[in-house]
Amino acid sequence: MQISIEKQPAAEVQADALIVPVFEGAKEMRFGAADLVDSGEIAGKSLELTLLHHVPGVAATRVLLAGAGKPEKFTAAELRKLVAAAVRLLRGKSVKKVAFEPDPDHSGTDYVSAAVEGAILGNYEPDRLKTADPKKSLDQFSVVGTGEGVEVAAERGRILAEAQNFTRDLVNEPANLLPPSKMAAAARQMAAEYGLLCEVLEQSQMEALGMGALLGVSQGSAEPPALIVIGYRPAETTSKSHLGLVGKGVTFDTGGISIKPAEGMEKMKYDMAGGAAMIGAIRAIAQLKPPIPVTAFVPCVENMPGSRAQRPGDIVTAMSGKTIEVLNTDAEGRLILADALVYARRQGCTHLVDAATLTGAIVVALGHLNVGLFSNDDAMRDRVLQAAKAEGERMWPMPLEDDYKEYLKSAFADLGNIGGRWGGAITAAMFLKEFAEETPWVHLDIAGTAYLDDAKPFLAKGPTGLPLRTLVRLAMEWRD
Ligand code: BES
Ligand code: MN
Ligand code: ZN
Repeated sequence: MQISIEKQPAAEVQADALIVPVFEGAKEMRFGAADLVDSGEIAGKSLELTLLHHVPGVAATRVLLAGAGKPEKFTAAELRKLVAAAVRLLRGKSVKKVAFEPDPDHSGTDYVSAAVEGAILGNYEPDRLKTADPKKSLDQFSVVGTGEGVEVAAERGRILAEAQNFTRDLVNEPANLLPPSKMAAAARQMAAEYGLLCEVLEQSQMEALGMGALLGVSQGSAEPPALIVIGYRPAETTSKSHLGLVGKGVTFDTGGISIKPAEGMEKMKYDMAGGAAMIGAIRAIAQLKPPIPVTAFVPCVENMPGSRAQRPGDIVTAMSGKTIEVLNTDAEGRLILADALVYARRQGCTHLVDAATLTGAIVVALGHLNVGLFSNDDAMRDRVLQAAKAEGERMWPMPLEDDYKEYLKSAFADLGNIGGRWGGAITAAMFLKEFAEETPWVHLDIAGTAYLDDAKPFLAKGPTGLPLRTLVRLAMEWRD
């Protein structure tokens, strides 16, 4: 989709549709909204969409009145959803060119970026492999605006949303078409395109490094593992920090020998969503050029119950030297992340964020609305929470106290890979903490938020791309 800026008045813009926000309780109305509000037909409630045709004085063929809710609650995140919902309605009607005019009170650069993001995210449909239905999508989205920084803001929005759709494409790819080797190839290609460093560690290199926890998970599959490393280096930096983004890349999670029930197992293709978000984040970072070095680490494996699969009770040695009793082969994400976190630290990362579809327990705790956030460092936690808030990616802090460590006791090894029945998301995070050690680190459990089971008016069913925008903002706003 083409993104452009229109400098002429909204009423004069040639388009198939002009999107106009309508606020609850607003007195002054433009473009045919006044009559409908007076008659009680529309109220301006959030995401209420009303399509008008041939509005007098408007050059666009249609006007879409887009309910924006209460003006004081209308954040950039709300606008992103609203434009996305509007675009999803219009694309279904074979509309090709859409223009949008922000209202004067909500027209700053954050709003412009959010509108562009909404358009690109809403225009996305995970239908790459459908051959029958004709694909309807918008060709062009224009923001009407003459304010300062509009172009830059629109461009930032485009970069972020296209990176997010790139992540969504990766996540949506079925596991037969995207085993670890293919995920690595996709990362390599992306890195070459955007001038990023890229190295993919193969099995023999991981063996030499002593990544026993990762290799234990991988050994049940005929697909070889891959550890993707992608580096962004700023042209000039005075920063002493180096941000490491570590993402779980389980291209399919059967559970291994501790096998999962059949129902819903098809969704386990999205068990690499954390890794895909890191690859997408660094794609955007390469274009937006923050002042600090950032490296993404994505351990990719397939968790299968093959004849060489690890067994419950097996004891593996992680790269840090710690021994782990694998009490449940389905708690595999933490095993591969353990080695990746240690590797990231050895590569010089001073700060770490990981994202992983790690536990069903986080979905029990927070539902599908909030990412579970865990950290060993208050300042780091606050940085990530602040970035998340600005981006409208909801995250909720969870406890990570030393007392929980007891839950991970093993009779025969340094630690077990599962805790007991309770606090499953916390014990998983506690396990990772053993490998992040003293490095300031945030763990994001995205099992409930990386994937939408049912489409929303503003987002297609399937991968969401979370928490990419938060990570990019974290890097952009980094100060030592
Ligand atoms: N990938 C799953 C977690 C998951 C569950 C993601 C549901 C998305 C939706 C993870 O590898 C897993 O299987 N976790 C187990 C851990 C348990 C064995 C301690 C779980 O949550 O059941
Ligand atoms: Mn699992
Ligand atoms: Zn998993």
